[in-house]
Amino acid sequence: MTQNISAPAVPRHVAIIMDGNGRWAQSRGLSRSAGHRAGAENVHVIVSECRRLGIAHLTLYAFSSENWNRPKAEIGVLFSLLLEFLRRELPLMQEKGIRLSVLGDVDGMPLPQRTALRHAMQTTAGGRDMVLNLAINYGARAEIVNAVRACLHDGLKPEDVTEDTVAARLYTAGQPDPDLVIRTSGELRLSNYLLFQCAYSELYFTPVQWPDFGVEALHAALTDYAGRSRRFGKTQEQINGR
Ligand code: FPP
Repeated sequence: MTQNISAPAVPRHVAIIMDGNGRWAQSRGLSRSAGHRAGAENVHVIVSECRRLGIAHLTLYAFSSENWNRPKAEIGVLFSLLLEFLRRELPLMQEKGIRLSVLGDVDGMPLPQRTALRHAMQTTAGGRDMVLNLAINYGARAEIVNAVRACLHDGLKPEDVTEDTVAARLYTAGQPDPDLVIRTSGELRLSNYLLFQCAYSELYFTPVQWPDFGVEALHAALTDYAGRSRRFGKTQEQINGR
């Protein structure tokens, strides 16, 4: 039940790798497209619940740079679902104070998606209650390389290239690092996702496929997170102030 999640235990930033749409569909004798459609519908469920719980930053991995290697038709389906999602969710995002942000190379997206994403970002720019980051055309290694390049481009001396100056040039600049990273579908890897930002994140892996990862599954992940002891490299005694 929702009420069991105590406010201080609610993470500020949750990042999710939404995996398993294909297997969800296959196990039901459906097409991969049907799996992606069910996955896109579940995005609404999870965004709404995170917003309701007061999670201030939610990041969803919607399309990795490596996903360009998928069959053209499947890429087309994913991009159409993105357009549908933006059209459908925009009024809700405005109403709920959700600011949309994109992590990734927007310029490398097809024109309709680029235009719709830019429009949605502008329209929701005033949202103060939650940031919804969609990682699209995103890869963490490229993000880090680009941030270091930006440091050089900005004329920073080698000694001024620090964790902070690099972080300020990542797509997530100004946002807290993820407290919790969730990956659905049983795979145990990060797949080039937020590698700089996840240095101290708690990781949660569940066999549940993304389209089935509903409110209850989210609560189970948050309850598990609430029981973790986060030490950030310190001893328990240091944290207790002894
Ligand atoms: C992994 O499933 C999921 C993706 C490649 C992308 C996630 C996309 C969605 C949830 C739908 C569209 C998103 C939005 C924001 C509208 P998979 O195909 O790799 O599953 P499999 O590993 O079982 O084949």
